[in-house]
Amino acid sequence: MSDASLTPLPESVAIIMDGNGRWAEERGEPRFHGHEVGAESVRSVTRECARLGIKELTLYAFSTENWRRSEQEVGLLMGLLAQFLVQERDEIMDNGIVFRAIGELDQLPPAVREEYERTRDMSAQNGGMILRLALSYGSRRELLRAAQGVARLALEQGEGAVEALGEDDLRRFLYDPSMRDPDLLIRTAGEMRLSNFLLWQLSYAELYVAECCWPEFREAQLHEALRSFAARERRYGKA
Ligand code: FPP
Repeated sequence: MSDASLTPLPESVAIIMDGNGRWAEERGEPRFHGHEVGAESVRSVTRECARLGIKELTLYAFSTENWRRSEQEVGLLMGLLAQFLVQERDEIMDNGIVFRAIGELDQLPPAVREEYERTRDMSAQNGGMILRLALSYGSRRELLRAAQGVARLALEQGEGAVEALGEDDLRRFLYDPSMRDPDLLIRTAGEMRLSNFLLWQLSYAELYVAECCWPEFREAQLHEALRSFAARERRYGKA
């Protein structure tokens, strides 16, 4: 099918990549195998989103809750992440992708953080799609930090300033204030939950749930989601 069936395209897409563990367990493989194949899906989906001209792709790669998984799984995931950050550098640069992350990044192991900072700095001047990973990310934590930022601002400006605060004053304190609100949120593995992901930014997003697990989500499944988005009428509360 031609790309025409995919338009209008969302400018900004966010994805909750779910079901890596289930996918592996169903095949009698260790959970980590699901994450490894899931990293391949990250590559395919990123490449295809950039090719199509989507402006921002935000992937939920590691939540604040994920730290509670076994030490072994957390260690393997961090290793996979570091490997991804190194191996994808050429692809990121060749495709003009801008790489960023949101979350409590100072909680990441120093080696992962260093690789992240290298990739971020190297790609900062690129002009193509923004690929943003949510790492050690939780939306309530992000909103609490933003509320603290706004409260400090109001204290500095005096009590009268409270009523004058607007949405943009809060947005300024989000992890990435320049992030476009996602037009489309995709979640895999059939789950109908937001799981503490981008609660501010997803206010007007269209939701799409794919039945397949993340390791199986590739170009064809992405196209299916985009086709579904293209067929929707967005009204933002208007009649
Ligand atoms: C959900 O599957 C996925 C994660 C917790 C992590 C996502 C990580 C990757 C896709 C691979 C590494 C990422 C990059 C960017 C290289 P799950 O383990 O929660 O699955 P389950 O619900 O079936 O247990």
